[in-house]
Amino acid sequence: MNPFDVVVIGAGAAGLFCAGLAGQRGLKVLLLDHGERIAEKIRISGGGRANFTNRDLDVRAPQRHFIGDNPNFCRSALSRYTPQQFIALVQRHGIAFHEKHKGQLFCDGPSQQIIDMLLAECAAGGVTHWQPCGVGEIAWSAEGGYEIQTRRGAVRSPRLVIATGGLSIPQIGASDFGYRIAAQFGLRVVAPRPALVPLTFGGEAWEPYAGLAGLALPVQIETGSKKERMTFHEDLLFTHRGLSGPAVLQISSYWKPGAPLTLDFAPGTDVAAALSEAKQRSRKRIGNELAAWVPSRLADAWVGQDAALQRPINEAADRALAGLAERIARWQITPSGTEGYKKAEVTAGGVDTRDLSSQTLESKQPGLYFIGEVVDVTGWLGGYNFQWAWASAHACAQAL
Ligand code: FDA
Repeated sequence: MNPFDVVVIGAGAAGLFCAGLAGQRGLKVLLLDHGERIAEKIRISGGGRANFTNRDLDVRAPQRHFIGDNPNFCRSALSRYTPQQFIALVQRHGIAFHEKHKGQLFCDGPSQQIIDMLLAECAAGGVTHWQPCGVGEIAWSAEGGYEIQTRRGAVRSPRLVIATGGLSIPQIGASDFGYRIAAQFGLRVVAPRPALVPLTFGGEAWEPYAGLAGLALPVQIETGSKKERMTFHEDLLFTHRGLSGPAVLQISSYWKPGAPLTLDFAPGTDVAAALSEAKQRSRKRIGNELAAWVPSRLADAWVGQDAALQRPINEAADRALAGLAERIARWQITPSGTEGYKKAEVTAGGVDTRDLSSQTLESKQPGLYFIGEVVDVTGWLGGYNFQWAWASAHACAQAL
């Protein structure tokens, strides 16, 4: 049987990085993946330019940008491998990048550059790489360590790293493998759910907006009760089935089924005051006045729902204008659901952090580690999920 010091299952962001680092520490590493192509999620990430980290990550308070049952769990790994360290690696490999928005760093060229960099790091560590290679049963004994059945034969190793990610985008190789292995070894799993995902809407309340697909605008978006309210200021996009864009992807990670969203379409403007001021000076139709704050297609959708608003603003009743101001500044609508794993950028939930060491990512099962998205640590949109993949891989590799 083929003996290795470490077997890493999953050659995505976390697995590739961990395998390279472990190999460079002198360990004999086998990296396995069932996919035909390597690191597909890095390739498609950031619109093909990989938003590979975020400069604004505050390592003293990572819970600001990460979600999970224990939001403090990620602090140790993130503070020992920072965005600056990954940026230095990217620079050593001569990859040009730029900052786009709120600290988000993207490659100037294709995201394949990040994959090539990780592969070069694996080559420097002498990592053995089997792909595509399906993985079957895994058995463990205190004397022999892990015995892993693979399409290319059985392998043995005292340490096993699971880096198989979450359930998002099953069409490019996502599987529940990591959760099954956790369950096999008696570890708890926080129920997975799609996150950073477009939200769907239906029924009568949505009808007036169904024709707005393609419309984008900046909004403030909120969900949750007063105590645990989350608010984002980002762009919103109307789609054929509902809402998307950064504002909705971010809020989706916090949204609970059945709860409403509250949107402000004119953040920073006192719309009630602006409308009553317009009533004094203007004879334009209300829909035309509204176009000063929101795109005219959206203004038309609102005005079209209420006969009292289909008239010049100077003829409008104060109550009708107050109702309209409320709708612009505090529009409440309840999603019917999400677009699911087919469209979700990440999977929230995962291997329960109560059963993992925050220092090493080793589980309660000796020699079994979980890194990256398979763990119950989910980042915001904007490079945070890759930074968690790099940092958890690094913490694990140091401990192997
Ligand atoms: P990852 O999913 O990268 O890798 C898991 C690997 O395990 C895959 O190669 C898979 O084939 C393999 N595998 C699964 N099951 C297996 C099995 N049974 N046997 C063997 N192998 C198996 N994040 C970010 O920070 N910035 C960004 O710009 C983006 N953009 C983005 C766009 C899109 C469309 C998506 C879907 C996601 C993003 N993300 C992102 C999220 C980011 O891609 C994600 O969080 C990381 O890739 C997670 O890294 P992991 O290594 O944990 O899993």
